[in-house]
Amino acid sequence: MYVCLCHAVTDRDIKQAVENGACTMRHLRDELKVATQCGRCAQCAKGCLNQALAERVCSENEAA
Ligand code: FES
Repeated sequence: MYVCLCHAVTDRDIKQAVENGACTMRHLRDELKVATQCGRCAQCAKGCLNQALAERVCSENEAA
């Protein structure tokens, strides 16, 4: 699903960025330009970020 229409960023893009080490909205802004134009996607992007971070923590715990 598209999260940021201004920059055509999807929830998958955000998940991929988190897998590559992104852990803050600042990282997503720098890497994907999320929420850097109209800003309407900021809330949704934050939700996707938190979900992806939680999934990453879960998979790290399972691997340990
Ligand atoms: S929808 Fe993301 S900056 Fe406009």
